[in-house]
Order: sequence, then structure tokens, then C-alpha cells
Amino acid sequence: MSKKPCILGLDISTTASKAVCLDSTGQILGQTATEHKISHPNPLWSEQNPTDWWTAMRQSIQTLIELSSVDPKQIQAIGLTGQMHGLVLMDSDNRVLRPAILWNDGRSNAQCEMIRERIGRESLIAITGNDAFTGFTAPKLLWVRDHEPNCYAQIAKVLLPKDYIRWHLSSEYATDLAGAGGTLLLDLSKRTWSTDLLKELQIPETWLPPTYEGIQCTGTVSRTCALETGLLEGTQIFAGGGDQSTQAIGVGAVDPNTWAVTLGTSGVVFAPSVDPIIEPMGRVHAFPHAMPQTWHLMGVMLSAAGSLQWYRDTLAPQIDFEPLLIEATDIDFGSNGLYFLPYLTGERTPHADPLLRGSFIGLTSRHTRGHMTRAVLEGVSYGLKDNLNLLQQMGLPSPKRIRISGGGAQSHVWCQILADILGNPLEVVKSSEGAAVGAALLAGVGQGIWSSIHQACDTAITIQSKIYPEESANEYEDRHRNFNDLNTRLKGFYIT
Ligand code: XUL
Repeated sequence: MSKKPCILGLDISTTASKAVCLDSTGQILGQTATEHKISHPNPLWSEQNPTDWWTAMRQSIQTLIELSSVDPKQIQAIGLTGQMHGLVLMDSDNRVLRPAILWNDGRSNAQCEMIRERIGRESLIAITGNDAFTGFTAPKLLWVRDHEPNCYAQIAKVLLPKDYIRWHLSSEYATDLAGAGGTLLLDLSKRTWSTDLLKELQIPETWLPPTYEGIQCTGTVSRTCALETGLLEGTQIFAGGGDQSTQAIGVGAVDPNTWAVTLGTSGVVFAPSVDPIIEPMGRVHAFPHAMPQTWHLMGVMLSAAGSLQWYRDTLAPQIDFEPLLIEATDIDFGSNGLYFLPYLTGERTPHADPLLRGSFIGLTSRHTRGHMTRAVLEGVSYGLKDNLNLLQQMGLPSPKRIRISGGGAQSHVWCQILADILGNPLEVVKSSEGAAVGAALLAGVGQGIWSSIHQACDTAITIQSKIYPEESANEYEDRHRNFNDLNTRLKGFYIT
């Protein structure tokens, strides 16, 4: 059994609870994932049961220890990450009060409007860096106040998904600043909870956990957790970050020269910044980065690889992703006039509209499944291009490189389509579990295994390939315009 010191990264993603173990050279010693279900009890709702996350995470940790050569005594530090914005409500006995309301839930439009009216949209953006979006934590909390007063009356703690797991690991309430930014309750430039906002929205500050920079220690593995998981009691746990900021660290997007694109369930374009820059209309998100005293801007699509997952599960459940994607390789760009609008759960950026819907448009009897698959890949890529355009229109210095990761980045054909549509080369990062790796790197820096986040990234990140736009790239421009034109025309048509 290897005795090298190692670090554990834990990721409570939308699809699974994942555990990744790295050594000090960044080599992955083991990785596991245990899936959990998502439920949509109403058309705009998206929920998961927090206790399912803990059951799945316990399983992932146990399996990692059993199946890899990792001895719990080797684990020097644990870093946490997870889906952002999720609303977990606990009572004073630490009982979960209702299913968690997730980042892609669209029920809280009225509460977003109420927040804008109460605070003033400009002030809200000036304080938090963000407009109110339905998936953010604060509007969802106010939805519970308006619709489930009995539940609201019992709230003692409001936690994010990863911090619910942190509580199980250490019995400590704590959160990271990158995740806290996504609640809409953080003062972006001060990096503290905004007492003004909390007062105005009548949300008690005692409900919120203390905030930490990503590399700070928030507690240690408790005896109960050690018995439940096999981890060693006393192992240090570090704050980590919301999944997009740790994903960015996991691909080395740690200064303004390197941007990150993620093809996960959600699709993200992420730009680090050294100042708390804000888009005046609040159209892109501005949050603290998981690196101390650093910030970032990002555009978020709600269904990126999530669109492909839905498409496969619904229309081709008997086929693995790989053969399905190979069919798309043989199809010409433009999918022979077929378009896919990827707004299956509404859209965040750039449309900020939970009522948008997805569609296939332009089907003919000539189209094959390969065309439909390719149309999905192209539609998601057009959406990411819209997000890149928004960030570039802000006048940020152009990045020297764009790195891509997430499950969808494992597909060469998708990366090629995306490079063509974005009109930029893309560096594909080797690990498919960037968020958990990023959380482990933060914990390793906090523990002193690496002297800085830059050093950790230089040691641990490997670029697997670089994909350049091909000549057909210009041909996509007209199609991209048509894609947005179709979306504008269809808007307002949908039945909610
Ligand atoms: C980011 C966001 C999503 C989730 C998915 O703002 O909502 O990327 O974090 O994991």
C-alpha cells in the first residue's frame, strides 16, 4: 500500500456525490461517484433530498478507501465543493425541513421581482454584483416564506449542499465565499454577508454559517463521521468552493489570462478577475473566486451536458454516449438545417428567463438520429457563444487561453464544434473531475502541501490536447444568428 500523503476532494454535484484522491504530484490515486436522483414535482421545480447526498457521499468515500490503495492515515486534508445556490433548510435539531431546492429551479420569479423592488435593482447589483435569478438561494428562501410558512417558522440554519455535507463530516456550520456569492446575500467587494440586505429582506444572519476563504480550515472529521465513513478522526477539512470556482481552479483558471469553459450538467464560461468587476445590468454573475481576494465573472447555461443527457435518456436510452456521439461526427456542420434550443429548464444567462423552453426546429424526414445528436451539440455551443460574447462585450482583456473540462469535454466532436462556434482554440484538461480536483488543490494549499494555488495548479494540471477552430468556423455565424432569432420568435409562445 502506497504511503504517500494525499488529499481528498469531495464534490456534491447534481448527478452524483464524488470523491477524488490526489497525491502531492497531482496524480489521481482513486476516484468514485455514487449517483443521486433529481425530482421535478412541478414543471419549474428541481429538488433533491439532502440525506441522499450524504448516503451517496458516505458510499463514495467508503468505496474509495476500499478499492484504491489509499489508507485513511495518508489523507492529510479534505476539500469540499458542490452544486451552487442549493437551499438546504435545517431546524434547531439539525433535521432537514424539506427537499433542497436546486440551482436550476425556476419557481421564484415573483420573489426575484420582490427583491428588486425592495432593494432597488441598481443597489442589489452594486452590493451583490448580481441581479436576482430564480436559481439563487435568497429568492428560493423567500418562496418558502411565502408558500410554506410552517416550514419557514422552523428554520434554524440555511446551508448550501456542500455545507450540509461539511456539517455531516465535522458537525460545523461553515461556508466558502465563492458559494456564498451565489446566495445573493453577500457583499461582493467586502466578502462578508450584507447586513443591509439581510435586514431589508428580514432574514436573520444567525441562519447563515460563517464564511471562509477557500484555503481556510473549517473543522476536522468528527468521531461520528469517522465511524460512518472510515476517515480518520481529526483530519482537517478546508472551505473549498462552489463547483464553478473549484472547477476553474482544477483547470488552472487562476488569473485573467486563463478562462474556463465547463460542459457539465450546466454550461459555464468563467473569467477570473483581480477586482470585484460588475456587469452594470447584472446579466452575468460576479462572485468571489475560491482564491483569496480574487473574483470572477461567469455566464451560466442551465442545460448543457444536461441537454445531451436528457436527449439520450429520452430518445436513445439503449445507447451509450460514445456510439451516439460518433453518429454526430459524420454529419455536416449545421445538422442539415436542424436546430435545437437547449432551454429545457429555462435559461439563466444571457436570457434570465425560467419560462424559456427547449425545441428541435426544422425537422424533415431526411434527418437521422445523428443529425439530432449534432443539433443538440451545436445548440448548446451557440448558447455558450452567447455567454462568451457577453463577457467579451464587458471589455475584459481577452484571455490568452480557454480551457475546457466537464463530462461533455470528453467528446472530441463536441469540443471541435465548440471551438468552431466560439472561434477560439480550446485546451482540454486531462481530468474529468475538475471541481473535486480543484477542491483538493485548495485543501492541499491550506495544509501546506503546495505553497500557493498557482504552484498547485502548475504541479497537478495536465493539458490533454488543444483543439483549433477549423475552416468551417465562419459558416456557423449565420446559423448562430438564426438560432437566436428562433428563440426570440418562440419566446412568449410557451405554456407554463
Ligand atoms: C452556477 C450554477 C451551476 C451549478 C451546477 O451558478 O448554478 O453551475 O453550480 O453545479
